[in-house]
Amino acid sequence: MKITFSDSGEMPREGCLVAAIAKGGELPAVLRELDERSAGQISRAMKAASFDGTKGSVVDIPAPHGLELDRLLLVGAGEADDLDAWGAECLGGRMAGALMERKETKASVLALPPEGVELPATEWAVRIASGMALRNYVFDRYKSEKKDGKDGENGKRNGKRISDVTVLVEDPRSAEEAWQERAGLVEAVHMARDLVNEPGNVLYPAEFARRVKELEKLGLEVEILDEKELEKLGFGALLAVGQGSANAPCVAVMKWNGGKEGEPPVAFIGKGVTFDSGGISIKPSQGMEDMKGDMGGAAAVTGAMRALAARKAKINAVGVIGLVENMPDGRAQRPGDVVKSLSGRTIAVLNTDAEGRLVLADCLTYARDTFKPALMIDLATLTGAILIALGKEYAGLFSNDDDLAAALSEAGGRAGEKVWRLPLGKAYDKLIDHDVADMKNIGGRNAGSITAAQFLKRFVEDTPWAHIDVAGTAMAAEKSDINTSWGPGWGVRLLDAFVRDREED
Ligand code: BES
Ligand code: MN
Ligand code: ZN
Repeated sequence: MKITFSDSGEMPREGCLVAAIAKGGELPAVLRELDERSAGQISRAMKAASFDGTKGSVVDIPAPHGLELDRLLLVGAGEADDLDAWGAECLGGRMAGALMERKETKASVLALPPEGVELPATEWAVRIASGMALRNYVFDRYKSEKKDGKDGENGKRNGKRISDVTVLVEDPRSAEEAWQERAGLVEAVHMARDLVNEPGNVLYPAEFARRVKELEKLGLEVEILDEKELEKLGFGALLAVGQGSANAPCVAVMKWNGGKEGEPPVAFIGKGVTFDSGGISIKPSQGMEDMKGDMGGAAAVTGAMRALAARKAKINAVGVIGLVENMPDGRAQRPGDVVKSLSGRTIAVLNTDAEGRLVLADCLTYARDTFKPALMIDLATLTGAILIALGKEYAGLFSNDDDLAAALSEAGGRAGEKVWRLPLGKAYDKLIDHDVADMKNIGGRNAGSITAAQFLKRFVEDTPWAHIDVAGTAMAAEKSDINTSWGPGWGVRLLDAFVRDREED
């Protein structure tokens, strides 16, 4: 989507115009003028539709009388009080949605903050643009009929995506500048969505790694540890998960050095199980297709690293993602196998479907030993139990550090990617002790998400660490203002918001 900023003093004469009206708010001056020129058609249409700016409502005025506009769309912005940065992004998303529903592929958007909104005008415009661009995503790579916005044979529009948006603001220059800083984040979210939406036969570990490697163009340093190297290094737990698959596992390491030299990096670790059949502890076939999304944590880490590079963030960061496919096979690991992790500790694999923690254990050890990070945050579609606890509204947060947990909760609120903290503790830790090995990879029926987190904690030791269980949020997403795709790209914006806070310190 091409976005340009233009002076709101020169209103477009043609095409489609979109504007937001806050609840109970009046028409902005520029629209009042259009209303006069259309002999009151706009205000009459609003009245006839009982439109008062309520969130979710839209008034569609095609070919307004006396104007050359093809269409005027008024979108309800809701209460001005709720229109913070995230609220503005959601509003932008709904504006794009209203256009896409009507197959409008080009539009002008009036982006002046309504009365009562505290956000500065430039920030308002950038968030509207960001919300529009986030919503403007359709995963149609595998559709043979491309709906590219060209008018079809019978004159019907067939556009799916918006191609051009002109954002009308008072100060186009400063809006353009602020947008340049923000645009890369949208692309990073779109990339994460692509990764999650791709089927398992296309996105296997080596293909995921290849796409990560392409990010070198943006200035990221990328290293791929292949199976041989992982063997040499001793990634015994991760390799055991991959040994039943014809697609070899690997680990992708991304580095962004935008901070002071020698300053310990923040480390992001992602579960990248490109398909989780469960292995020998095979999953039921119903819904197994969803397990193409079991790499949503790795997608979020990849997207976040991309976003940091795109905006040249002033921070040192590393991303470590464990890429592996969990399949049943003659060579697959068996329930009861004992594997030796990179940390040296041994694990009895009582259930091969609890594979994510095996992958993460080695990636956490590797990140800690190699980079001596200031903190570690892992994201993983780790347990079905987190969906039982929190549904799709919040991701589960576990941490050994109250400040880190608070910072993530706060960043999540601002980004609209919410996390809810759950406990860790010795009593839970006991549940994963084993008589033969140092630990087992399942903790029983109760507190499934907590025992999984407790397992990870054994590999982080004293490093400030947070684990975010994204099984409910990073895949099979419900439609929202800013996303209608199966893979929401969840976590990219949370990690970006978290890093922004640390940069400002
Ligand atoms: N990838 C799954 C968790 C999952 C479930 C993600 C639903 C997204 C949606 C994970 O590897 C898994 O299978 N976990 C098991 C753990 C159990 C065997 C202890 C689970 O949640 O059932
Ligand atoms: Mn599993
Ligand atoms: Zn899994």
